[in-house]
Amino acid sequence: MNTVAIIGGTGLSSLEGLAVATELDIETPFGAPSAPIVKAVLGGKNVLFLARHGLPHRFPPHKVNYRANLWALKEAGAETVIGVNAVGGIHPAMGAGHFCVPHQVIDYTWGREGSFFEVDLQWVTHIDFTYPYDSALRDRLIQLLARSGLPYSSQGVYGATQGPRLETAAEIMRMERDGCDIVGMTGMPEAALARELELPYACLALVVNPAAGKAPGIITMGAIEEVLVGGMQQARNLLTRFIEES
Ligand code: HPA
Repeated sequence: MNTVAIIGGTGLSSLEGLAVATELDIETPFGAPSAPIVKAVLGGKNVLFLARHGLPHRFPPHKVNYRANLWALKEAGAETVIGVNAVGGIHPAMGAGHFCVPHQVIDYTWGREGSFFEVDLQWVTHIDFTYPYDSALRDRLIQLLARSGLPYSSQGVYGATQGPRLETAAEIMRMERDGCDIVGMTGMPEAALARELELPYACLALVVNPAAGKAPGIITMGAIEEVLVGGMQQARNLLTRFIEES
């Protein structure tokens, strides 16, 4: 039985309906993960859950220990990983409440610990990252979204920014010229670290606001939260189905 791990982002700090939940405190060579890993059974299937920002929400995107998170999930038995991310919409199709299963990523982050490969290595350290997300995992998410009736895009380029501030309108214009469809702060280095550990990884992104300059006025947390609450409940339902069908 394939053990699915979910990394929940902003607005998704837990799953529901988990039976036999135990909490695993795992120390890694890279420090502690954001929170204990919840190991549980859902619909008869093993599932692992990790709150990316901690419980309660403690770590902003640039302070998340991505290496410890991925390492701990692997140690807990994860065989596939789905990262759930709240994002801003750049492409006109990516309105608030829209889901996207990105197929590519551009990394604009800096200064984050982005590799398990450090010093004194005796093996090849250059992973292939041509296609950053696992295509079989993406297909399964896309099929679920197609059945759900929710608005979604089956591909998109995720632009990962450093945060924690939101972008300027000019930065978003540049990202649009680069080909980015959505913008978020937590997609990298998570995806690359999963690849280094040979964990199939895909991203389920929920657009919670038009990116800077893509709608009149400024971006308010109130407007984001309005979309987050309902949207992440939909994400939770999708993931429950995903796990039950694993
Ligand atoms: N930019 C970056 N990250 C985000 C945004 C955004 O507009 N919305 C949610 N996460």
